Order: sequence, then structure tokens, then C-alpha cells
Amino acid sequence: MAQLELSNFSFRYQGSQDYVLKDINLTLKSGQFTLINGLDGAGKTTLGYALKGIIPHVFEGTLLGEQRLNHKVFQEYTHQELTKIIGYCFQNPWTQLSMIKSTLEEELSFSCENVGYALEETRFRVKAIVRLLDLSHLIHKNPIHLSLGQLQTIALGTILVLDPDVLILDEPTSQLDPLTRRRLFNHLSDLKKQGKTIILIEHNIDDFLELVDHLVLLEKGSILDQGSVIDVYTRSLSIGRDIQYPSLTALLSTITSLDKPILNDNDALTILKGVKSHD
Ligand SMILES: Nc1ncnc2c1ncn2[C@@H]1O[C@H](COP(=O)(O)OP(=O)(O)OP(=O)(O)O)[C@@H](O)[C@H]1O
Ligand SMILES: [Mg+2]
Repeated sequence: MAQLELSNFSFRYQGSQDYVLKDINLTLKSGQFTLINGLDGAGKTTLGYALKGIIPHVFEGTLLGEQRLNHKVFQEYTHQELTKIIGYCFQNPWTQLSMIKSTLEEELSFSCENVGYALEETRFRVKAIVRLLDLSHLIHKNPIHLSLGQLQTIALGTILVLDPDVLILDEPTSQLDPLTRRRLFNHLSDLKKQGKTIILIEHNIDDFLELVDHLVLLEKGSILDQGSVIDVYTRSLSIGRDIQYPSLTALLSTITSLDKPILNDNDALTILKGVKSHD
């Protein structure tokens, strides 16, 4: 169970003039699945860093406002405590891996050793994650010989092996084929059922829409809108907001004027039947 919160949060990278995040107020409730969407450079990754505490600890800069986990400010936790509770999967899988381990098995074990798990506990966790992600054929391979898609799955493994309460995934599907993407959907669906708090930063919104409880639209470092998927897209359609819509919504709004977003096949069919009967 874990709730994350940013209040009046702004951030400017060191050496930069402009604030990349501007007065963000965001509460991600325990067990909630949040999708963060926005154009390239909107600040999505930086927002993910803020929710994990990577800023200001790894990337320095000027920070205003507060980051809270379960109502306590991040400063009240040790680095190891935060690492165990909040898992972060980087946009580039190479950033995730230590690059000092020569096999996948060692890489997964390293994640556990880093947070102080004993050998037996580490072995148990690695075995479970290898089974879960179907990685047994890769465990003795050197990560440098693997494809980007495989690395992306392994990067997820280095997080899941710690069984964190919060998962932040930054564009985890960018290198995945459709089958592996479907598998990721199933993993996330299972993790959601377990009550994990999940934050997904994704351009590819269609594949995950049915899991999303809370949608955050980010534009130039500010929250443009947030709420349930249906509410956010309904508001956006009503004012003709130029954003990325789900494919069905975008497609059908070119055929007929929509006042409610179309998010699934059944609603699409109803609209299309209506268009046909007009002819
Ligand atoms: N380490 C850094 N130092 C200075 N500026 C940075 C740094 N990282 C990102 N930025 C700037 O912050 C802004 C937001 O970047 P960020 O990577 O958070 O956006 P994004 O929405 O994740 O983009 P993308 O869709 O391309 O992944 C950009 O203008 C970027 O150039
Ligand atoms: Mg990014």
C-alpha cells in the first residue's frame, strides 16, 4: 500500500534557465493505475524522476514544493527505504543495468544485494522473477548480447525482483514486439490486482487504456488536465483540445462529431451503425 504525492512542485535542472516542471499538484492513490501522457519534451520523464526522488538526489537543480510517500516527505526516508518501496524503470534500458555484471542472473541478484537482501532471499527472489517473466533461457547470457526488447523486459525484472509497492515505468514498450507488449499488459494487470500503485509514462496509450484509473496530461511542464480517462477526454473533445487521443476516438471523430470519447470496440460499433443508418 503506497500513496505518492507532489504538492506545489516545480523543478529546474542545474544550469538551465527554465522550470521543466511547474507547480505540479498530483496525488497518486494507493493501488491506482496512472497514465502520464504528453508530447515529446513535455516533462514526463522529469515528473517520473520527481515521483521516485531521482531529483534532486541524482539530477541536481532548483526544487520547490514537496514530494510525499504515505504522507511523509521523502527526506524522512533513507535511500534504501525509497528504493525498496518505489521501483523505477528507465526510458532507456541501458540506464537501468549496472553494466558491471556479466550475466542476467548476476544483474538481477545485484538489485537485491543493493538493498541488503541476504543470499537465500536473493536466490528466492531471482528464481521467482525469472519464472514470472519467462527469462530462464537468458539467465546465463551477458546483457550486452541481448536485443533492446529483451533488455527492456530485463530492466523490468530488476525492479520487480524487489517487489516494490510503487512501480514507475517510463515508456516500457518502445522496443517491444506486439506479443511481448501483450505480456507486459498481463503483468501490469496482475500487479494492479495485487494493489500496486502503478505509474505508466507512455505514448502508446491504446494498449493500456483499460487498466487506467487516472490520466494525467502534461504540457510544457504543467498539468493540462487530470482525472478519469472518460472525463479527461470528454473535456478535451468539448473544447477541441489538440492532444493525442486514443486511436478509436481520433478515428471516429473524423467521421462524426463526438461529444464523448470512444474508447472500446463496442462503442465504436454503435457509432458506426449510426453513421450507416444515416446513409
Ligand atoms: N538532465 C537535464 N538537464 C537539463 N535539461 C533537461 C535534462 N533532462 C531533460 N531536460 C529538459 O527538460 C525538458 C523535459 O524533458 P523530459 O525528458 O522530462 O520530457 P519527456 O516528456 O519525457 O520527453 P520525451 O517524450 O522525449 O521522453 C526538455 O526540454 C529537456 O530538454
Ligand atoms: Mg521521456
